[in-house]
Amino acid sequence: MRAIVYHGPGHKEWKEVPDPEITDEGDAIVRVDTVTICGTDLHILKGDVPAVHEGRILGHEAVGTVEEVGDGVQTLAPGDRVLVSCISACGTCRFCREGRYGQCLGGGGWTLGHKIDGTQAEYVRVPFADMSTYQLPSGASDEEMLMLADILPTGYEVGVLAGGVRPGDVVAVVGAGPVGLSAIAGAQLYSPRHIVAIDLSDARLEAAKQFGADVIVNNSREDPLGVIRELTGRLGADVSIEAVGVPATFELAVKLIRPCGRIANIGVHGQAATLHLEDQWIRDITLTTGLVDTSSTPALMRLITSGQINAKRFITHHFDMDDFEEAYDVFARAGDTGALKVVLSR
Ligand SMILES: NC(=O)c1ccc[n+]([C@@H]2O[C@H](COP(=O)([O-])OP(=O)(O)OC[C@H]3O[C@@H](n4cnc5c(N)ncnc54)[C@H](O)[C@@H]3O)[C@@H](O)[C@H]2O)c1
Ligand SMILES: [Zn+2]
Ligand SMILES: [Zn+2]
Repeated sequence: MRAIVYHGPGHKEWKEVPDPEITDEGDAIVRVDTVTICGTDLHILKGDVPAVHEGRILGHEAVGTVEEVGDGVQTLAPGDRVLVSCISACGTCRFCREGRYGQCLGGGGWTLGHKIDGTQAEYVRVPFADMSTYQLPSGASDEEMLMLADILPTGYEVGVLAGGVRPGDVVAVVGAGPVGLSAIAGAQLYSPRHIVAIDLSDARLEAAKQFGADVIVNNSREDPLGVIRELTGRLGADVSIEAVGVPATFELAVKLIRPCGRIANIGVHGQAATLHLEDQWIRDITLTTGLVDTSSTPALMRLITSGQINAKRFITHHFDMDDFEEAYDVFARAGDTGALKVVLSR
């Protein structure tokens, strides 16, 4: 089969590799029908995620068809159409029992395209397949469901739920990439007073409006702190969500918050970022970080099929899998190309 193979920072290649095989009785081999690229894949290619070794097949999002299952798989059969989630779950460890699948101690968590070969391939081995896939509901397209593999649960769980967004809040979202836009879509479900999207790209800010931001700030031209202060009687945002993953945006997200406010960091950071405790110790703030658990996937699936979340809006570009390298290029140059999510199909 062919797959996107990581060859160290800055290098990847769509090339011929051996087909995956079942190595554990809980595995399934899934034929990848639709797959996408994540901002985290770009972090990996920058060298920000050293756990990813050379030779690894990238990718942690897919919709596909079950080809083969191990003897221990109980709920899936060949031919089933499934969402392959970015998070795998053993289902039995302490954290899985609490629904904290991202922290799985039994060999799950974020493994696909990280510690084991991933989904940017014609076939993928999915461990703990019963717990790590979701049967597709009728009435929704593969592409919409693909948005549930990572970005929608990430924005919702690590941003909106961790940040404790409540009705009437002013929510600042720093970074309007697919993950920030997912946080905006999720925050909107809670009737906030304002959602303020902050990004350097006007194209992304225009997208943020479509997803429900009512105030947009291009922080290359305008000071977001001034805007937030104006909206909040100089207090600051109730919740700020960091969805970029660089020190400057983390520090900005902290600065935007009111006393007793909540900062939810989603970004994957490759460098040390400073928490200015000399300013913040007295302000009763709460800071959360997190890897997505994907425990909200079934609920978000229902919100898509009921039309309350429009997942189609994320998809800006379509490619054949053979054009994977071009799809990476278009996604990486999102500022010029307007890409949100690029979808590749076989
Ligand atoms: N915690 C998790 O479980 C999890 C899961 C998935 C993704 N992530 C991370 O979430 C982050 C966002 O992912 P994405 O796919 O949306 O990424 P992306 O790269 O597509 O989007 C990032 C956005 O930030 C904007 N930006 C960059 N620098 C900025 C600055 N100084 N000020 C304001 N905006 C700035 C960019 O213009 C872009 O629109 C990444 O760090 C990704 O690795 C985390
Ligand atoms: Zn991802
Ligand atoms: Zn587990």
